[in-house]
Amino acid sequence: MTIKFVTNEKVAETSSKGNQEKWRENGRWYKLDQFGYEGLSETVISRLLEYSNIKDDTPFRFVRYRMEKINAHGRERGGCSGADFLQQGESIITLSHLFKREGQNLKESLTRLSSDRKRIEWLAEETAAFTGLEFFPQYLTLLFEMDALFLNDDRHLNNIAVLEKDGRFDYCPIFDNGAGLLSNVQTAPMDIDPASLIRSAVAKPFNTTFNRQIINAQKLFGRQFRMPKLNEDAIRRELVEPLTYYAKRDRTYISERVCKTILIRQKEYEKILLR
Ligand SMILES: Nc1ncnc2c1ncn2[C@@H]1O[C@H](COP(=O)(O)OP(=O)(O)OP(=O)(O)O)[C@@H](O)[C@H]1O
Ligand SMILES: [Mg+2]
Repeated sequence: MTIKFVTNEKVAETSSKGNQEKWRENGRWYKLDQFGYEGLSETVISRLLEYSNIKDDTPFRFVRYRMEKINAHGRERGGCSGADFLQQGESIITLSHLFKREGQNLKESLTRLSSDRKRIEWLAEETAAFTGLEFFPQYLTLLFEMDALFLNDDRHLNNIAVLEKDGRFDYCPIFDNGAGLLSNVQTAPMDIDPASLIRSAVAKPFNTTFNRQIINAQKLFGRQFRMPKLNEDAIRRELVEPLTYYAKRDRTYISERVCKTILIRQKEYEKILLR
């Protein structure tokens, strides 16, 4: 296990309004755990995505994250890193930023619409129109489907983005799934049964349920995300190495929560597909 040392100065370097401390170094972006086991969630989700249809059957990509031990602020902490996906001259434009740049008040436009379905349709199609990315509606649907499986409740409009280079746009590799799998132990305390935390989870960016979000998106744009059925053994296999980055006393809790979250959400997802 390698330990990375950073100075306070470096940890402070960030380009986002997010809370998790992050910085770029030697071609990688590092993120420190803040509210729980975000690094493990990020790593395990990106490993499970290897089994999905994203790589081979879609024009989309996702960031591969790995666990990191980071000595920051004089303490050893867990975190993760992912390779910088920006090519020379390319920038990442989050949807928040994109709409602001186009002179649109995104929040106001979304509130004006009368249903989640209309909001999803509007966001997907407006973005496709601004950028010329014809499959953006499918990209957005895929994000919502993934988030519903992994219970990522942090898909706000700065965690959805496009890439731009010389006025031309491209799909941004899917990033920031760290809030999934109940990683925030402050809002989802360890002593509460995961099943009840899962029932009360709220999906971003429309603050609706995960089920409603995918039902609407799939009705509009069709199913995008496919994943072989995961069983507990398969999930536990992906957890073995990431768990070593956390205190021994927490490992059983974390792996229980992660397994329960995926298995419960997978069942819900299957029910939706059978409708
Ligand atoms: N692998 C990467 N390649 C290029 N840029 C990155 C990468 N990872 C992070 N960034 C930059 O950092 C920003 C924030 O990244 P990310 O959303 O992963 O962090 P976060 O702290 O979890 O965010 P938040 O708390 O705001 O949701 C991105 O919008 C992007 O500008
Ligand atoms: Mg983010």
